[in-house]
Amino acid sequence: MDTAARRATLADAAEIFGLIHQNRDQLVPRSMGNIAENIDRFRVVESGGRIVGCAAYQIHPEIGDALAATVEIQSVAVDVGCRTRGIGRRLVESVIGSVRDFAPREVLVLTFAPEFFGKLGFVEIPKTKVMHKLYTGCINCTKHANPFTCPEIAMTRALG
Ligand SMILES: CC(C)(COP(=O)(O)OP(=O)(O)OC[C@H]1O[C@@H](n2cnc3c(N)ncnc32)[C@H](O)[C@@H]1OP(=O)(O)O)[C@@H](O)C(=O)NCCC(=O)NCCS
Repeated sequence: MDTAARRATLADAAEIFGLIHQNRDQLVPRSMGNIAENIDRFRVVESGGRIVGCAAYQIHPEIGDALAATVEIQSVAVDVGCRTRGIGRRLVESVIGSVRDFAPREVLVLTFAPEFFGKLGFVEIPKTKVMHKLYTGCINCTKHANPFTCPEIAMTRALG
């Protein structure tokens, strides 16, 4: 039976790595070291004794305006055999629930799954609005030469 999303532990790192790697065409790759360093930012769903979904976040500060920092939802992946059961939604809502503690104005995602995030209340924005994110994430991308020709879609959800 599926359980609620919970905080990840270091013991989950290898399975998180596996889930991200299985979805490498849609997700930015992460090393085991990077996952372990950021394990406190991951949420996971466990089912049948294994990790079947993960999601994380990263904060992108805005120079000169701490309150305008953007929180990006990252590394959202659900095992292919466990999809369309609400696990992805549960993971994203769990990450958003924990970042609400920091009171960001909005959360951001760059995604190839806009229909999924649309169901969760995200709306598309122009990538030019998130240049700071493009600098930290896209500048070293090995798949696309230019973030403006990359098919990933930028979407935000206001947190109010
Ligand atoms: C995108 C992904 C995380 C969705 O996980 P999931 O557990 O299947 O999603 P849920 O069951 O929680 O779906 C929530 C809603 O979105 C819809 N949905 C999910 N994936 C969808 C898709 N690819 N296209 C359209 N709608 C989708 C569901 O039907 C559901 O709608 P409902 O609320 O009306 O019933 C999963 O397909 C995945 O791991 N994809 C590969 C990695 C990826 O693309 N991650 C996102 C990039 S950051």
